[in-house]
Amino acid sequence: MSLLEVAGAQVKFNVGGGHVKALDGVDLRLETGETVAVVGESGCGKTTLARSILGLQALSAGSISISGQRVTGVTRGQAGTVGMVWQDPFASLDPRWKVKDVLAEPLRLARRDGDVTSLLADVGLDENMGDRYPHQLSGGQRQRVAIGRALALRPPLVICDEPTAALDLSMQAQILNLLRDIQRELGCALLYISHDLTTVRFVADRVLVMYLGRVVEEGLTEQVFTKPMHPYTAALMASAPSLEKLGDLPDAAKGEIPDPRSLGSGCRFASRCDRAQDDCLKSDPSVIEREGQRAACIHPIQ
Ligand SMILES: Nc1ncnc2c1ncn2[C@@H]1O[C@H](COP(=O)(O)OP(=O)(O)OP(=O)(O)O)[C@@H](O)[C@H]1O
Ligand SMILES: [Mg+2]
Repeated sequence: MSLLEVAGAQVKFNVGGGHVKALDGVDLRLETGETVAVVGESGCGKTTLARSILGLQALSAGSISISGQRVTGVTRGQAGTVGMVWQDPFASLDPRWKVKDVLAEPLRLARRDGDVTSLLADVGLDENMGDRYPHQLSGGQRQRVAIGRALALRPPLVICDEPTAALDLSMQAQILNLLRDIQRELGCALLYISHDLTTVRFVADRVLVMYLGRVVEEGLTEQVFTKPMHPYTAALMASAPSLEKLGDLPDAAKGEIPDPRSLGSGCRFASRCDRAQDDCLKSDPSVIEREGQRAACIHPIQ
């Protein structure tokens, strides 16, 4: 049994003129102590995956379990199982709460003892920061508070959704170092969601590449970065470091992105893929494996 098991996860949203499958059969396993990154362009389903694992988003098919317990909805106890760090620490911290109250809240809700001062120290903040309000902190300090709150109950799994996207470069490096140190010290598993492949390479043991609700490639970080099998992964790598917006992919992937409301059969990346052939349009590509690296592609690289 893995710490986190996502099997065939599907999430449908009704949108004007049809529905979007934000997740369309996603499988993911995460072991204790492991850091797995989820990458892919805007709209591929990364946040929906995080919200589903937290029980904030119901699945229309498939299942999610944490330590063998099925995730069926949000429960208060969940904070002890999954710690969550969102992209924007300003939006995720209540402006009326002092830092020490933010950090004490999960402990209070779980009726657990805990030491707010040592929690501050864990995330590299001085004790006197406890009496400050979020607006009196820098962006990096706020994100440290958000990380402290996520870790208050020492959950076995921590999810970070673009945790450094709102920070400047030097802060980004500090927060990444902090996450890596904490992950090593506590031995928790980390699911790290990001556009930024440079940071992914720095923190992750394994990488999962998503495209339009599906996982198209998965493997050890070094494998995926140095020998991508899926043309989409290769295009992502070529366009690094900035994937902030759709359309930032290099020429090889400049074709049209299909309308997610009306996906036909065949590979979803085919319209942008320079390796696509007739057979790519006919049926969904099955997954091929090479030394533990997996890709859903009929004509993989190499
Ligand atoms: N509440 C919602 N209602 C309708 N559609 C939604 C909703 N949330 C997400 N979607 C759609 O689901 C798809 C996946 O969105 P999601 O936010 O998970 O992507 P993402 O990979 O996190 O993108 P980003 O990198 O921009 O954060 C998109 O097509 C999005 O428009
Ligand atoms: Mg997102």
